[in-house]
Amino acid sequence: MRDGQPKTIFLSDYQAPAFTVSHTELHFELFDKHSLVHARLHFRRADGVSEDTPLQLNGQELELLALAVDGQKVASAHYELSDDFLRIDGLPQSGVLETSARIYPQSNTSLEGLYRSRGLFCTQCEAEGFRKITWFPDRPDVMSTYSVTIDADAGQCPELLSNGNLMHSEELAEGRHRAVWEDPHPKPSYLFALVAGDLQRVEDSFTTVGGRDVRLIILVEEKDLDKCAHAMDSLKRSMRWDEERFGREYDLDVFHIVAVDDFNMGAMENKSLNIFNTSCVLAAPDTTTDLGYQRIESIVAHEYFHNWSGNRVTCRDWFQLSLKEGFTVFRDAEFSADMGSRSLKRVEDAMTMRTLQFAEDAGPMAHPVRPASFIEISNFYTLTVYEKGAEVVRMIQTLLGEEDFRRGSDLYFERHDGQAVTCDDFIAAMEDVSGKDLTDFKRWYSQAGTPELSIRDSWDEEQGIYTLTVSQQTPASLGQSEKSPVVIPLAMGLLGEAGNLRIKLDGEMTDIESEDNTHRILIADKPTQTFRFTELPERPTPALLRGFSAPVRVDYPYSREQLLALVSRDDDDFVRWDAMQQLMVSALQELQENPEAALDPILETAVNAICSQILDPAVQADMLRLPSETYLSELASHAGKADVHGIFRARESLRKSLAKVFRERWASLFEGLRVTEPYAPTGEQIGSRALANVALDYLATADDQGVALARDYYFAADNLTNRLVALRAVLREGSAERGEELLEDFYQRFCGEALAMNHWLLVQAENSVGDSISRVRALMQHPAYDSRNPNKIRSLIGGFANGNAVQFHREDGAGYQLLGEVVEALNAQNPQIASRLLAPLTRWKNYAAGGDLMRAELQRLSELPSLSPDVYEVVNKSLA
Ligand code: ARG
Ligand code: ZN
Repeated sequence: MRDGQPKTIFLSDYQAPAFTVSHTELHFELFDKHSLVHARLHFRRADGVSEDTPLQLNGQELELLALAVDGQKVASAHYELSDDFLRIDGLPQSGVLETSARIYPQSNTSLEGLYRSRGLFCTQCEAEGFRKITWFPDRPDVMSTYSVTIDADAGQCPELLSNGNLMHSEELAEGRHRAVWEDPHPKPSYLFALVAGDLQRVEDSFTTVGGRDVRLIILVEEKDLDKCAHAMDSLKRSMRWDEERFGREYDLDVFHIVAVDDFNMGAMENKSLNIFNTSCVLAAPDTTTDLGYQRIESIVAHEYFHNWSGNRVTCRDWFQLSLKEGFTVFRDAEFSADMGSRSLKRVEDAMTMRTLQFAEDAGPMAHPVRPASFIEISNFYTLTVYEKGAEVVRMIQTLLGEEDFRRGSDLYFERHDGQAVTCDDFIAAMEDVSGKDLTDFKRWYSQAGTPELSIRDSWDEEQGIYTLTVSQQTPASLGQSEKSPVVIPLAMGLLGEAGNLRIKLDGEMTDIESEDNTHRILIADKPTQTFRFTELPERPTPALLRGFSAPVRVDYPYSREQLLALVSRDDDDFVRWDAMQQLMVSALQELQENPEAALDPILETAVNAICSQILDPAVQADMLRLPSETYLSELASHAGKADVHGIFRARESLRKSLAKVFRERWASLFEGLRVTEPYAPTGEQIGSRALANVALDYLATADDQGVALARDYYFAADNLTNRLVALRAVLREGSAERGEELLEDFYQRFCGEALAMNHWLLVQAENSVGDSISRVRALMQHPAYDSRNPNKIRSLIGGFANGNAVQFHREDGAGYQLLGEVVEALNAQNPQIASRLLAPLTRWKNYAAGGDLMRAELQRLSELPSLSPDVYEVVNKSLA
């Protein structure tokens, strides 16, 4: 926290650094009560920078003990120390700046910089945490080699780790010891890492395509040694995949992953010393769901892939964050698609985009993939920068084709290896290999908001010509009232009575006799344009946005019959899933207007069609599941205002109808799909479990017999996925006693497993039966909760605010108050978590009832003294 109001930083103000630091020597003396950090920066004034320009270093919460240049103490007249900076003038052209600082890792609750988690010393420096460790030009375009000496108590901290290679270790006096690490690859300060503590190792090895033998080491607490196999296996598969798909080879002899319990985010790609939230690395059948296993696989891959897309080639400034994150998310999504089911991955990513990213892009914190300004960069680690950024990269691949895209990626890495670059540099490489002009396409980087495609059609029976008129529009957002058209690859097909029709666009010479002649990518890049399809035997149903080919909303007035045709017969799994979602959404909307409405017979036919087809069972499960309350709220707020209570009731009612009407079907699906082999997180088992569990959930909804079945299923479960599905069903459909029985059993089984306890808290936070608020308040006092651990906060408080809409939006405002109180307490303790937790309150404009109370809570927060920049930015932008 600093004096005055936090300042806005603009991309347009970017200036190259006045000083570079070619080499950095750090010496850490770690103690229980404090730590000492001695730094030697080998600096040089950049060419063309005038001699009177001072060296400005970032530094926060550091006590200055010594300051010298080339061995000479710096006189007080030559430096200026403030809460955020150390400025030194009168420096030579180049030299060595020495500082010593005292810091207090054990009382660092922000989990940024050097801090302690269950006694372990660890770091998180991205984005701007290195300045809490030592004075440094803490910006990604200052890249330096590092040599790091760590001294600590040998008993408390047998492991001493930093980036790069271990050069030396020795015993010191008084039971202490030392390790010296050197990282030969120049890196920005945000990739620095240090770990010191009592950890156990799991080791494996990998030989790169070029023949380098790499030691792979996962470090965890002793109790977790048996939970590392999945991460290790994922790591080896990532390393091989990146060689094969992107031609990227690992570049050091060792790669570490360290698991840490208290961690703000998922994981961090520090060079050769990745640090992970335990929840994103440790896996065991009892404590990890199928989704958890998949998440670990993708996050291990994500952080590993950063070694090239992020570390070897990094960002010039934080406005370019998506340069590394969007690209790396795209890479990990392709990896997951290759490891499991491509359709499933696409459907689930589309679901995340449409449910969460579209909401962000329509809310007060909306920002472009490359933001133009920010107050606190930590607030911009968002779905927009990550997921929409990845969709933008995917569209480039779609426009260029896979081959040119790969050549563009190769050129990008070759051209910029060792540099800190911009999104424009990435695009330039893609343009250079393909000869395509991406100038207009680049609007995806600078315009916020979700583009909307409005599509209408007409049919000329006589000529067999079908015309699609495609218009696009992007809604205004804060600071961007006028938007220009973006380049949208609109993948599509035309569906006839017997299947997909051959596509021929007006003016096309002859038939393209490829097998792919039923699939097209139209380029929509104008306010309005028409596409004429000729030589058609019948009026088709358009299959639009196949594979979710662009992160846009599509509005086409489908009839229910057309949706049914798509569900039953289109070639594209995304389109089929989406058509089923639309059928359910329309049934739910009808129920909201008329609670007595009968089950739509077309929806019934669609369910039958899905059940009787041979599809990827995991996709089938997604098709049979009701759209989430969050998605329905997003749709409703887009059209006007959301009535969360109405949505909830309609959804309960549709669930009941589907449960009862298809009772026999659910029963036979459930029986037919039971996995009998021991638990394994294979695609096949995960798919069967997903579908069986959808059926179980409907069975529990149907009647008491189903609830009893769910209870048995809970006790028989040999894995967390089944156990949680059963637990949730019993909590929702069973008696209070039955629910308590299972919660108590769960607690007794797993109270020693922090990761399972996260789920235990989450399930209760999301349970909307009874008085959730009292329950959440009581759980905040429970020994299983820990008000300093981000995973626990996210599960209990985040789970309640994001996953229990009817109680969060209780009419008396008690839900908003609860969230406000927690945010207020966290503001000082952990600003990053505080501001993330705040998100549900910021969407007050979406709700008719409750909006004023939400706003009032934000207003109260805005008036608190000493708001962190993180919370300040979110609160003020939401009130604006
Ligand atoms: N670069 C990390 C990742 O993508 C995220 C770290 C962000 N940390 C933060 N405090 N904002 O995996
Ligand atoms: Zn990342």
